[in-house]
Amino acid sequence: MNAEFKINGKQIETERLILRPFKQSDLNDFFEYASVEGVGEMAGWQHHENKDISQRILDSFISEDKTFAICLKSNNKVIGSLGIEKYGLEDKLTEFNNLKGREIGYVLSKDYWGQGLMPEAVKAIIDYLFVDLDFDFLTCGYFTFNNQSKRVQEKCGFKPYRKLELETQLGTKEQTLLNLLLNPSKKLNLVYSHPETLIYKK
Ligand SMILES: CC(C)(COP(=O)(O)OP(=O)(O)OC[C@H]1O[C@@H](n2cnc3c(N)ncnc32)[C@H](O)[C@@H]1OP(=O)(O)O)[C@@H](O)C(=O)NCCC(=O)NCCS
Repeated sequence: MNAEFKINGKQIETERLILRPFKQSDLNDFFEYASVEGVGEMAGWQHHENKDISQRILDSFISEDKTFAICLKSNNKVIGSLGIEKYGLEDKLTEFNNLKGREIGYVLSKDYWGQGLMPEAVKAIIDYLFVDLDFDFLTCGYFTFNNQSKRVQEKCGFKPYRKLELETQLGTKEQTLLNLLLNPSKKLNLVYSHPETLIYKK
């Protein structure tokens, strides 16, 4: 099942980053990276045409309190986001019935790609959710054309779990690879449903 989750003021520090809740003063930094064409599109949403759109999404980040701002320590700039989202198809994926977990999603400013920053952020989040909050599992997906995101998930230990066709916010249908990471400190034996989309190997 989907775990309860709120950031609740939590701040996580890594070597180069601080992950913290979004605040209203992040609007300019958020718009700066979200308005670049070809960034959000890789995650299924359209780049922001104007600041009003960024403001609306920023308001939802703040009120829903489940999306971390990724802040670069060296210049104190918000350069991306990392969301602790609800995973979909909760009623169908019965293997998670007695377990608690979430799906993570992320975006990084194009100016900072290729420096290993997102794997650094994701590893810190995995540690927080598995060790401090005792989650059992995490899922994370990517459209099959998105090799960059695939690499992040591989570097963080996720394993191929299901192949699905999902509808995006852009109205397109995309082949999606869903990955799974089980909490390694627990000896979990899952009985997987829906073999027709399953590709998970222990
Ligand atoms: C996916 C994303 C978060 C990766 O973050 P990152 O911090 O750059 O991750 P890494 O530095 O580990 O690089 C990952 C891969 O991107 C590719 N890459 C690196 N630099 C790149 C660049 N400048 N341009 C394009 N791809 C690049 C490489 O294949 C790299 O894998 P490698 O380390 O095996 O060579 C970032 O590319 C992004 O925000 N993409 C758009 C949004 C998105 O796809 N979100 C995920 C939706 S599922």
